Amino acid sequence: MLARFAILLVALFALPAAGRGDELVARGEYLARAAGCQSCHTANGPNAVPFAGGRKLATPKGVFYGPNITPDPRHGIGQWTEAEFLRALRLGIRRDGAHLYPVFPYTSYTKIADDDARAIFAYLKSLPASPTPNKAHELPFPYNIRMAMAAWKWLNFKPGAFVPASDAVGAPNRGAYLVEALGHCGECHTKRDWWGAIVPAMAFAGTKDGPDGKVVPNITPDPETGIDGWSTKDLVYFLDTGLLPDGDSTGGLMAEVIRNGTGKLADEDRQAIAIYLQSLKPIKHKPKKDSPRAP
Ligand code: HEC
Ligand code: HEC
Repeated sequence: MLARFAILLVALFALPAAGRGDELVARGEYLARAAGCQSCHTANGPNAVPFAGGRKLATPKGVFYGPNITPDPRHGIGQWTEAEFLRALRLGIRRDGAHLYPVFPYTSYTKIADDDARAIFAYLKSLPASPTPNKAHELPFPYNIRMAMAAWKWLNFKPGAFVPASDAVGAPNRGAYLVEALGHCGECHTKRDWWGAIVPAMAFAGTKDGPDGKVVPNITPDPETGIDGWSTKDLVYFLDTGLLPDGDSTGGLMAEVIRNGTGKLADEDRQAIAIYLQSLKPIKHKPKKDSPRAP
């Protein structure tokens, strides 16, 4: 009798809570896709466990490995509280209080709304825990000194929430949020200074020194060097399929951004991204390598 009563209680209270939890997890999964978390936190190869870390990220400052962010208590974020997770996204601070390297793009994620960050946390916590140990980064001096990131942040990092433009409503603002906060598009599509910090005046105008040493194109609506020739429809189609207006397919890291991210979003959100890109200030800049590299 008592057992049955207990089951009834569980049914009454746990089920609606589970229902709400599922909704939160599903929202978190969608947002994690928009934010591209999986790409950097999953090793290459067909047998890699999603979010269990091991992805090699070659940067001009050294080689980083995306850590395990499954809920494993030892190697992942199993012991992290929601507040610690929000602090990592917003301020680039690890659970133990150490500074995180900005290769984890908290410089953009600082703009993610708290509710969205909470949903992403709920989603990560819902994943199967993987006991995959983390790989140590391979960084030369002085970048191997984590404390130095305190100075880097002081000089180069402005934490703060996303501020919608007051004269924009609907799609442009949603697009701005998707591009600037979650999609962190500018982290690859903008050139960096000597410090490795984004040059705001050249936002989205491309760089010759992108991730893996690749050229990243200008995505401002400049007629000669940017995407002025693309229609909104072209952009939406590209963000869905990876196919360029000339029928070519995009390669490398952008293909991954589309496969794990923009290709899995709702059409309205791709539309919002496209409309926002077309509203950017055109910047004339054609990134190209100074001299052809040996293969
Ligand atoms: C461009 C690659 C990249 C993307 C995208 C990325 N991360 Fe990371 N992340 C990293 C790297 C590299 C580190 C380790 C940084 C360090 O050691 O200072 C890291 C660290 C973290 C940490 C701290 C883990 C620990 O054990 O210290 C958390 C939590 C985290 N990322 C969550 C996320 C979430 C959530 C997203 C998506 C919203 C995301 N990351 C997207 C590369 C990335
Ligand atoms: C991890 C780095 C990275 C991120 C993040 C990234 N891109 Fe890209 N993007 C690239 C690279 C590299 C290319 C060029 C790919 C190629 O050469 O085929 C590219 C190409 C493009 C193009 C095609 C431009 C052209 O002229 O061919 C568009 C449009 C674009 N990206 C939009 C976006 C948007 C919107 C976002 C954010 C949702 C984004 N990108 C995020 C690296 C990135």
